[in-house]
Amino acid sequence: MKKNTVTTLAEMKKRGEKISQITCYDYSTARIFDDAGINSILVGDSLGMTMQGYEDTLPVTMDEMIVYGRSVGRACKNAFVVVDMPFMSYQVSAEQAVANAGRIMKECGANAVKLEGGRTVCPQISAITACGIPVCAHVGMTPQSVNSFGGFKVQGKGEENARRVLEDALAVEKAGAFMVVLECVPPKLAALITKKTRMITIGIGASAGCDGQVLVYQDMMGMSDLTPKFVKRFAEIGEQMKSAVSEYDREVKSGEFPSAEHTYPKSDCSDEFLGVLDSEYKDIGEE
Ligand code: KIV
Repeated sequence: MKKNTVTTLAEMKKRGEKISQITCYDYSTARIFDDAGINSILVGDSLGMTMQGYEDTLPVTMDEMIVYGRSVGRACKNAFVVVDMPFMSYQVSAEQAVANAGRIMKECGANAVKLEGGRTVCPQISAITACGIPVCAHVGMTPQSVNSFGGFKVQGKGEENARRVLEDALAVEKAGAFMVVLECVPPKLAALITKKTRMITIGIGASAGCDGQVLVYQDMMGMSDLTPKFVKRFAEIGEQMKSAVSEYDREVKSGEFPSAEHTYPKSDCSDEFLGVLDSEYKDIGEE
C-alpha cells in the first residue's frame, strides 16, 4: 500500500474515486484502521466527547490534541493523518494559528491540520498554508460553534443559509484549503459545493454527493449511545466488548482463567527448592 498524500487524494478526486476517512485517537486502533486500507484518519476534537466524556468539543486543549495526535501519527504508515485544531487555538490571530498548526505538525507527525469556520478564518488558513502546512477546512455544522447554533443542527437550510455555506466553502478554498469537511449540509447543496470547488469535500451527514466521507469511529462501531441520523453502525463492537469482559469476569471468578496454557510452569524451580523457600519464609499471619 502507498502512503496517501495531498497529491494522491487530489488524483482520487479527479478520477472520481471516493475517499474514506475515519476518526481515531489512539495507537492500537489507528494501526488496525491503517491496515484496513482507510485513506485518511482524522484525529478530531470529537475526542472531547468520545474519549473524555464532555458534552461538546470546547474543553479540548492543544496539549491534549498533541497527546492523541502523536499516538495516531506513529501508527499510520498509509493513511493521511489530519489533526484538529481545538477551540481557541486559532481563532485569536493568524500568528496563534501558525504557532499551533506548527506544533501539531512537528509533535504529531501529522500530514495536515483541520480548523472550523468559513470567511472569518481565511486569514488563519492563508497564514498556515503559507508555511507549507496543508489545511482541511470545516463548514456547515461546525461543532465548536454549538453555542451560537443553539445545538448540533443541520446548516445551509433555506436560500440565505445555503448561499452562506457555499460562499464559506469558496472562501476557504481561495485562502488555500485543500480539503473541506461539510458537516450536516443538505444533499443537493453538498453536491453543488463539490461541483464548484477543486478542494476535496468530505461529508458527514452531507450525502454521497461529496468526494469522500468521514464518520466518528465509536458511532459507526456501535460504541456510543448516540446514533445521529447520518451514522450507519457497521459493527456492534460495544456489545462484543461487553460480552468479552463479562466472560473474563466470570472466568477469573470461577478460576477457569488463567489455565496452564496461560502460565509459565516450565520456568518454575524444583519442588524441592520451593519446599526450602516455603520453610524459610513465614506464611501470612504466622508470628
Ligand atoms: O472532530 C471531529 O471528529 C470532526 C468530524 C466529526 C468531522 O470534526
